[in-house]
Amino acid sequence: MTLHPGLAAVASLIGTWRGEGSGQYPTIDSFQYTEEVTFTDVGKPFLHYIQRTWSPAGAPMHTETGYLRVVGGTSMEFVLAQPTGQTELAEGPLIATVDGFTCTLESRLVNSASAKQVDATERRLDLAADVLTTHFAMAAVGLPMTHHLTSRLLRS
Ligand code: HEM
Repeated sequence: MTLHPGLAAVASLIGTWRGEGSGQYPTIDSFQYTEEVTFTDVGKPFLHYIQRTWSPAGAPMHTETGYLRVVGGTSMEFVLAQPTGQTELAEGPLIATVDGFTCTLESRLVNSASAKQVDATERRLDLAADVLTTHFAMAAVGLPMTHHLTSRLLRS
């Protein structure tokens, strides 16, 4: 299958990434998790994304899925759904680095419906060769933008 030319800037994301993460928020106890992320080329101008996490004891934790698009070759757009009831549309400039890219995506829209209130999110993806580092912050449950998660994933 030929990769859509619009995805050239994120081609190195395709595949499965695994590693460890840690989470915190002022309202909850800090925690550790194992994370697996897969970006799949389906032959269209977007990548399918699925993320799963587990507690150190192996119990399923957060999971989310969505689609990643590159807009105009210069910015990333992520459409995401979480089983906890939130949906997000986030975007940010894609900045090439020596061996990958960095992108900070800010939410343009977050819907919480009956889930816990999330007003805005900020996600950073740093790809450097075979290491993918993620950062996630959110303005949620009445607090301003505050760090929630970071993880370091290796290509598996
Ligand atoms: C709370 C884990 C991603 C929003 C929590 C808690 C844990 C957790 C353990 C505390 C227990 C609970 O209230 O259920 C994770 C993990 C994630 C993840 C492992 C992914 C690696 C997200 C994302 C969002 C989010 C993507 C929002 C878009 C929240 C909210 C709370 C929360 C709103 C409640 C805080 C409160 O009640 O004060 N998360 N989370 N989380 N998380 Fe996450």
